[in-house]
Amino acid sequence: MIDNKQIALAITGASGAPYSKRLLGVLLAQGITVHLMISAAGRILLADELNWKLPARASDVHKQLVAEFDCADDLLHVYGEQQWSSPLASGSHRVPTMIVCPCTMGTLSSIAVGSSDNLINRAADVMIKEQRKLILVPRETPFSAIHLENMLKLSRIGVCILPPSPGFYFNPNSVDEIIDFVVAKILDQAGIEHHLMPRWGE
Ligand SMILES: Cc1cc2nc3c(=O)[nH]c(=O)nc-3n(C[C@H](O)[C@H](O)[C@H](O)COP(=O)(O)O)c2cc1C
Repeated sequence: MIDNKQIALAITGASGAPYSKRLLGVLLAQGITVHLMISAAGRILLADELNWKLPARASDVHKQLVAEFDCADDLLHVYGEQQWSSPLASGSHRVPTMIVCPCTMGTLSSIAVGSSDNLINRAADVMIKEQRKLILVPRETPFSAIHLENMLKLSRIGVCILPPSPGFYFNPNSVDEIIDFVVAKILDQAGIEHHLMPRWGE
């Protein structure tokens, strides 16, 4: 029933746009169907940090990204923030994994209280209630006790809290390698094969 070749990816308005762009590219290049949601703040951060300007309408974003990533039309689905007709709004879909990268403290808190007030929060709520894999890449520094409590609450019910904390023991030569370190960790958690970086001891 579950389809391992599908993934839900939400991009919210925290610093870390290079991670989300790289992650999206790797998923599409591997032929994985991506169900993409980008918050309004997420769009601002993509433009600020990467000069990657995306239109507001989901259908226009789809058109632009299919051209940019040179992928098949039906490999990518893009949904608006209030698009309740999306399969992700219901537990009846077959998507096994959802990643929020980067995840703002606002979205973290909404997921922790089950607010379901936009499609990203609802989709995360669905993953939790269906006991599927939810991976959050929270970005803020320092963390307050509120942030930490929200993360602990979610971790205790099986949500993967994966902060973008690159290791430097592999002696990176570039920012791209640092980005790949984090993306590789996300893919490992999602159970997706990759060759972004050598594994320790291999
Ligand atoms: C340039 C910029 C950087 C930001 N960086 C962060 C951040 O690293 N972490 C965070 O939690 N919020 C950050 N914010 C604030 C969020 O974008 C804001 O709280 C927003 O309401 C989050 O909405 P969303 O969760 O729907 O994307 C940043 C905002 C801007 C404009």
